[in-house]
Amino acid sequence: MSSWKVIARVDDIFGEEPCAVDVDGIRVALFNVQGCIHAIEDRCPHDKVVRLSDGYVDNGTIECPIHQSRFDIRTGKVLCAPAQEDVRFFATRVEDGKISIELDPKE
Ligand code: FES
Repeated sequence: MSSWKVIARVDDIFGEEPCAVDVDGIRVALFNVQGCIHAIEDRCPHDKVVRLSDGYVDNGTIECPIHQSRFDIRTGKVLCAPAQEDVRFFATRVEDGKISIELDPKE
């Protein structure tokens, strides 16, 4: 069974710029895409030390700042090489201006 954790406020996200949050040792990048909040793990699957939140946001995608792989912010799907894996995606919900993400019970 999963659990939900409040990690930020909607007001913490300004325009298209991602908001990076540390959630119990997991780096999470939050995005506001046309009024919808999305969350992905804030590390590139091609080189796990690279923060995707330092990348370039364009039309619902994030481009890795190192080798320019692109990922769909809404799903975590990898869209182009050199990365071959999707980035972890978290379900989100917003209540009373607070953003929650869904975590596995072990987290
Ligand atoms: S580190 Fe992200 S594509 Fe290489």
